[in-house]
Amino acid sequence: MLNNKGFDLWAGDYDKSVNISEENNEYPFAGYKDVLNYIYNQVREQNGSNVLDIGFGTGILTTKLYNDGYSITGIDFSNNMINIAKRKMPNATLISWDFSKGLPDEIKNSRFDYIISTYAIHHLTDKEKISFIKSLFNILSPKGKIIIGDISFETRDELERSKARYKELWDNDEVYFVAEEIKEILNDKYCCTYIKISHCAGVLTVRNRRF
Ligand SMILES: C[S@@+](CC[C@H](N)C(=O)[O-])C[C@H]1O[C@@H](n2cnc3c(N)ncnc32)[C@H](O)[C@@H]1O
Repeated sequence: MLNNKGFDLWAGDYDKSVNISEENNEYPFAGYKDVLNYIYNQVREQNGSNVLDIGFGTGILTTKLYNDGYSITGIDFSNNMINIAKRKMPNATLISWDFSKGLPDEIKNSRFDYIISTYAIHHLTDKEKISFIKSLFNILSPKGKIIIGDISFETRDELERSKARYKELWDNDEVYFVAEEIKEILNDKYCCTYIKISHCAGVLTVRNRRF
């Protein structure tokens, strides 16, 4: 699993390396642009102005929202990623924080209309993902949405087939979610939907059932 220093080293080349994998339609970034565009359109479609991005990286998605006038808060633990994003979004609140420790104090009393995260949550185990997602409801507006785009699969079989296909490339330190498993756990209390975007990516949306 890459730590913050690993991401610091990747930061300068990040956009380029993502593009190569995306353009070849290969794991891990097949569908990357479509995942980001889908989330961008979801946020743009409805009212709301406060966005939290978890693991914003170089800020590819959040910069578009920032330029559209959204108020952007972000969490990331790589100082080099933060510096790149800060240059693009000088007035955003970008917090240096390791989200495996939960949420930083600075935002515990905030309310966000959208909490988005792309290609970052696979750094948590499945159990950690569930409790992290649940904790996000403490800082989500009642009618808000949590929208998570990541390497992910509809079923465990699909994940296993992809793992076999990409065995040389497969990153065994990363934990990709399986939509039907995560939905089964979260659907009890929350409304949870998944849309498949590419052969190895999709977007999970979680919101409060009452609204
Ligand atoms: C693959 S990049 C994705 C960046 C961006 N969201 C995107 O879609 O291009 C993952 C990002 O999550 C951050 N990250 C990974 N694990 C983290 C953690 N435990 N706490 C905070 N940030 C983390 C990394 O520093 C990196 O910027």
